[in-house]
Amino acid sequence: MKRRLHLNLFIYGRGHHEAAWRHPRSTPRALTDIDHYVECARKAEAAHFDSIFLADVLNLPPDVDSSARLWLEPLTALSAIAFATSRIGLIGTASTSHTEPFNLARQLCSLDHISRGRAAWNIVTSFSIAGSRNFGGAGRLSHADRYAKGEEFVEVMKALWNSWGDGAVVDDRSSGVFVKKALVRPINHKGESFEVAGPLNMPRSPQGWPVLVQAGSSDTGKDFAARHAEAVFTAHIEKSTAVEFYRDIKARVVAAGRAPSQLLVLPGISAMIAGTEAEANRLQQELNELADTRIGLSRLSDRFDGHDFSHLKLDQVLRPEDFPDPADNQSSRGRTELIVGAVRREKPTLRQLLGKLAGARGHFVMAGTPEQVADTIEDWVDSGAADGFNVMPPLLPWMLDVFTEEVVPILRRRGRFRTEYEGRTLRQHYGLERPSGISG
Ligand SMILES: Cc1cc2nc3c(=O)[nH]c(=O)nc-3n(C[C@H](O)[C@H](O)[C@H](O)COP(=O)(O)O)c2cc1C
Repeated sequence: MKRRLHLNLFIYGRGHHEAAWRHPRSTPRALTDIDHYVECARKAEAAHFDSIFLADVLNLPPDVDSSARLWLEPLTALSAIAFATSRIGLIGTASTSHTEPFNLARQLCSLDHISRGRAAWNIVTSFSIAGSRNFGGAGRLSHADRYAKGEEFVEVMKALWNSWGDGAVVDDRSSGVFVKKALVRPINHKGESFEVAGPLNMPRSPQGWPVLVQAGSSDTGKDFAARHAEAVFTAHIEKSTAVEFYRDIKARVVAAGRAPSQLLVLPGISAMIAGTEAEANRLQQELNELADTRIGLSRLSDRFDGHDFSHLKLDQVLRPEDFPDPADNQSSRGRTELIVGAVRREKPTLRQLLGKLAGARGHFVMAGTPEQVADTIEDWVDSGAADGFNVMPPLLPWMLDVFTEEVVPILRRRGRFRTEYEGRTLRQHYGLERPSGISG
């Protein structure tokens, strides 16, 4: 039987293309209007997507004067979306560098209760220097220290979520027993970064814990994912690096003593879809022409720890030497490796590289017919590059509509995607085990 695949909708502003906010076919709603997010989530749920995802960074982007990159705080927004949906998974981003485990464990546990078992946490260590300035202290941690703190953070989160056993709440009016104390235990964690006594002040949630999602692509990031993540987001400009990533991360999962099926690999795909390939390309071109190269350049600089690329000419062919060594990068190391790799292989001009990144920030971008998009999705799954996709429509909600109305039915006809939800929780949609907690 052909392998079924998973689909997550990444909701990002008015669409993933850098210029989406200016296009006449993207949503007219304000980016702080919850109805925009609810509309996208309901459309994805009607198409039986596994989940939706909200990203987060902790600073106002410096190019906000000419680029629409605002969003609501994810866990707050997802709580509202939970109430407007009933089956779709809800993945929210929260930082291990700039939050406290006890608070975050409560918030995510609450979201899992509120949504009746649909919550997930995208674990990020936060690479932005500007973001770290909003949290005082000694400034941003190094890449290694961020992951070390993240490791301890996740350990504490799991311990807190496990501090309640299933069935601890008896709630028996006649005997007067509300909670079975034997099923609630302190955690007494004392580590390098955190001291947390526990237990959590809230009972275990429907999924045991929210699903753990991660997106690190450096060696450290992949090892972290192999130990903890149940789904991994990953960016690839082309299939070959995605195949390599998939093989590598699944091997690390096995080395960490886990079953490979318990970590789903979900690369991004940003597809411009139209009745003919020519029309899809025309739409893509139309959007690219709305993009501002100055913004592309400032984002490239951000990725490379603030490196100045302004001396390069837009139509100059790039060389790997034009970039700082990704091995020294303290920000988003995996993404810089990806960019330098593409420069080495494809020798683009600076303008071409910026155009490529404007589409979806280094994720796979394509323009084609519904059949071509479905073929690509199937091909990546069959080539061992993906267990499913992080769907990143270039324009929202229009290209989401085209995807759900035109591409999803093809995947269904080919036996690749569900026609109904079989489960109620995100763990069930993803085929993940429910963690067993303490028993008494
Ligand atoms: C699809 C996707 C979504 C991401 N979302 C966020 C996010 O919301 N916030 C954030 O700080 N980092 C986000 N990241 C970045 C990762 O958390 C991570 O920092 C990055 O991949 C670099 O990891 P590395 O240093 O291990 O290479 C995202 C990455 C990917 C691929």
